[in-house]
Amino acid sequence: MPLVAPDNPVHDIKWWHTATVYQVYPRSFCDSDGDGIGDIPGITSRLDYLQRLGIDIIWLSPIYQSPMDGNGYDISDYRAVAPEFGTLGHFDRLVSEARARGIGIILDLVVNHTSDEHPWFLLSRQATDNPFRDFYVWRKPADDGGPPNDLQSSFGGPAWTLDPTTGEYYLHLFSRRQPDLNWENPKVRAEIYEMMNWWLDRGIAGFRMDVIDYIGKEVDREVVTDGPHLHDYLKEMNASTFGDRDILTVGETWSATPGSALLYSGRDRKELSMVFQFEHVTQQWDAVYGKWRPKPFDLAGLKTVFGKWQLALARDGWNALFWGNHDLPRAVSRYGDATGFHSQSAKMLATVLHLLKGTPFVYQGEEIGMTNMPFTSINQYRDIETLNMHRLQMEAGLSPEEFIRGANESGRDNARTPMQWNATQHGGFSSGTPWIEVNPNYATVNAEAAMTDEGSIWNHYRKLIALRKMHPVVVYGDYQPWLDHHPDVFVYTRTLEEVRLIVVASFRPSEVCLTMPMELLAVGKCLIWNYEAVDRVETEMVLRPYEAIGLLTDA
Ligand code: NOJ
Repeated sequence: MPLVAPDNPVHDIKWWHTATVYQVYPRSFCDSDGDGIGDIPGITSRLDYLQRLGIDIIWLSPIYQSPMDGNGYDISDYRAVAPEFGTLGHFDRLVSEARARGIGIILDLVVNHTSDEHPWFLLSRQATDNPFRDFYVWRKPADDGGPPNDLQSSFGGPAWTLDPTTGEYYLHLFSRRQPDLNWENPKVRAEIYEMMNWWLDRGIAGFRMDVIDYIGKEVDREVVTDGPHLHDYLKEMNASTFGDRDILTVGETWSATPGSALLYSGRDRKELSMVFQFEHVTQQWDAVYGKWRPKPFDLAGLKTVFGKWQLALARDGWNALFWGNHDLPRAVSRYGDATGFHSQSAKMLATVLHLLKGTPFVYQGEEIGMTNMPFTSINQYRDIETLNMHRLQMEAGLSPEEFIRGANESGRDNARTPMQWNATQHGGFSSGTPWIEVNPNYATVNAEAAMTDEGSIWNHYRKLIALRKMHPVVVYGDYQPWLDHHPDVFVYTRTLEEVRLIVVASFRPSEVCLTMPMELLAVGKCLIWNYEAVDRVETEMVLRPYEAIGLLTDA
């Protein structure tokens, strides 16, 4: 069915409106050479799998040359591929093999900071009058010799490190091995734009932009996100690089509000296609301890956040939809029930997300319901943030057991254990010893088993991804929430001209009896379900644990 332009002047039609993106964390996806680290030829070997799933775009977490202090988010050469991942030749082959299957590749653009091994930083730290000095952010010590101000690193501790060579501090909003670039320097910006064009010319389909809300920072006023020049820089970047290329750009913006999202992604803004907002994630965190002590899951709060974003970007801008990524716990463990109702809850979560308006992002392994990892010892973790946090929490007197409980619930390594391909050793990820342990449940949770089971989570994702291509209402329908305050069910409709899609989903591990609003009573065609097809919405409905349906009716 051709896509019908909706009857409103809202969105110019873009190819990425109907697209589904799949995020690959290269280190953990597929190891082709047995060194225990995933690599680009490994990804290429799995393209048929991704094509069968139906995805349109692969977002690759960083593949560039890097000392791997932050698993590649610390880049020492923007134009080289890390040897453990392969070569530029392997990358070009991935792009062309993907293109042959109708799949585009988008790269992670990490330009708030580089590695401390980047030649720019090596030169910058040599002398205060080095021509590269101003590529980074240097300040004299405070009067007492301490850091120039109180800016803190996201990984814990001060965001400043004293460099003995010149006696000045440099800024690093992440690890001390990730010095922040000085975006106020036009030469820095010009270098970055040139590098982006170099990759675009190789045929990539876009960029995911790491902490892009930081680049306009005003260091002396301690303003990190949404600094005064942020949108000027993005406009300049757009005009200098991808403005007249038809690509997808998505910013990682933990600070985004619906208002700022319209600035980033508004139709006439000439900035980005969309941004990731994280309100549905951070809303579930503790006010003091953040993600290390998440609050009990609150569906009503989650619905409020999703609803607010759906409505705010209904006429302009565009939502990026996701449950998980390489920084977050596994979706089914966080929002569903990974033990009692693994399959039902994973399918329910997928249904709720994929039928919203926006571009869905699937994080590798989510499509087979991969779960959080039951580590038992600090020696098993690999993530720099988790290891830093361990040090700080031990100093603060937390017990090792408490730490492990928190890390297994919220730590980033949950998402980084190897992709589970089959039931053979190491889940078929590698013939060597994986850089991080495989989740022991690979014997049952794996792609091979999922693909052969008609009723699997994987086949559910495949159906949802296909529905977006078949039904314009999934892409453009207007969102309306129902039963807003209900603590256990998420009900919404999407309406486009004469068609209405009704989505009813339970987040409860037991039955829920519902009285449906009069306006929703309808008979229709069930497009998706996780128990059995239901062809009507009735006044009284009983939903089974984590039951979800999507019903197509007349508006
Ligand atoms: C956000 C990325 O998603 C995360 O993985 C990384 O550690 C930081 N930015 C620093 O680059």
